[in-house]
Amino acid sequence: MDTQRLRGKICVITGAASGIGRACAIRYAAEGARVVLADIDHAGGESAVNEITAAGGQAVFQPTDVSEPAQLEALLGRALATYGDVHVWHNNAFKSVFKTIIDQTLQEFDDTVRISLRAYWYGSKIAVMHMVNHNGGVILNTASVQSYFGEPGFSAYQVAKGGILSLTRSIGVDHAPKVRAVAIAPGFIHTPAHQGIPAETIERVKASIPAQRGAQPEEVAALAAFLASDEADYITGTGVIIDGGYLGI
Ligand SMILES: NC(=O)c1ccc[n+]([C@@H]2O[C@H](COP(=O)([O-])OP(=O)(O)OC[C@H]3O[C@@H](n4cnc5c(N)ncnc54)[C@H](O)[C@@H]3O)[C@@H](O)[C@H]2O)c1
Repeated sequence: MDTQRLRGKICVITGAASGIGRACAIRYAAEGARVVLADIDHAGGESAVNEITAAGGQAVFQPTDVSEPAQLEALLGRALATYGDVHVWHNNAFKSVFKTIIDQTLQEFDDTVRISLRAYWYGSKIAVMHMVNHNGGVILNTASVQSYFGEPGFSAYQVAKGGILSLTRSIGVDHAPKVRAVAIAPGFIHTPAHQGIPAETIERVKASIPAQRGAQPEEVAALAAFLASDEADYITGTGVIIDGGYLGI
């Protein structure tokens, strides 16, 4: 049996220099995919590529600010020029500020939504347009448990994450069976993303996780690799929660 479930696949992933995105890129490559990593963090992206190639995998880094549609087009172009197709497009980069609607400025809302929702829509749009005219594919969107419930203090982020789940549903129903779309909804994952969130919020969240721990990004990557693979062929238009029982739904 071939244990490399993504052999022959070409995967694109944003926010791939750090945390969940980096772990997913590494896992996709380990499962046999050729991977195009995108991020604004050039050093982090190159170092992830080096880690993949040192392990015998195939990957390239494309410097990308996902808030710029032209840079998302360039990312798709790089994947097609380098590897000839795109089978998995994983929107994962994000930006957030920890504030309620009272304290948040319009600029902070716009910045959050441009990176954490509009870029998912535009990246999905160009990827789906390619996939429906070629060999089909999978859109993966990193959502959050906050796509499903209200965690205090995350106003604009929650708008974006709720939108990502709705976007995923719409792509799933519009473009099946040629394109699948799945949102991955993590709970508490140990990454640099928690910088800027008050310590008491972190402690409150951690104390209420039934699994009694946060997860490592590699645990999310294991789920993503399954969802990207043909083994998940009947999963589309929905979200998959990975939260140690935090939501209990
Ligand atoms: N860590 C958690 O507990 C958690 C929980 C739920 C959901 N998530 C989601 O997981 C995803 C990944 O988060 P993470 O925890 O790995 O965070 P992270 O901070 O480790 O990684 C985020 C990456 O996005 C990149 N990025 C930011 N702005 C960008 C832009 N404009 N263009 C391109 N890249 C950009 C950063 O440089 C960074 O490499 C996000 O969508 C986040 O909302 C994380």
